[in-house]
Amino acid sequence: MINERMQKEINEQINAELWSGYLYLSMSSWFTQNNLPGFANWMYVQYQEEFTHAMKMYRYIHERGGVVTLKPIAAVDTDWKNGVAIFEQTLNHERKVTGLINALMDTAHEIRDYATINFLNWYIDEQVEEEANAEELLHKLQMIGNDQAALYNLDNELSTRVFVDATLPAAE
Ligand code: FEO
Repeated sequence: MINERMQKEINEQINAELWSGYLYLSMSSWFTQNNLPGFANWMYVQYQEEFTHAMKMYRYIHERGGVVTLKPIAAVDTDWKNGVAIFEQTLNHERKVTGLINALMDTAHEIRDYATINFLNWYIDEQVEEEANAEELLHKLQMIGNDQAALYNLDNELSTRVFVDATLPAAE
């Protein structure tokens, strides 16, 4: 049986992961509207990944005999100045999520919930990748500036990203 405080905090994180997905879906929509289908694809995959992050927690609460509580998902931004602004927000958001995962880990250590410590290690690793990906694309966009040909090439490159559910047991 999962500890009640741990359960409450993981439920809050489920909401945060769903919100992240919602944010990236909105960003994907912006890229579609602004004729950058490769970036739109990249953000759409990002949206799909965030929902799997939430679902991994959802399954974990059930595995531990707990109760999943789904709260309303807050509204997200719908418009940005440009792609750089989108990736600045993405990087800042992922840094914030890393802080949230670290706080969950602090709780797990405090209450000596070893199963949850083990479970959260996956997210600790994932956040390293999430921040690195956002940072890389932000730097690329900053370098590209107003070079339309370079932007076109990067957009083409990002159109090849394919969604894989890395949270499923077979993929772990
Ligand atoms: Fe669920 Fe983008 O981390």
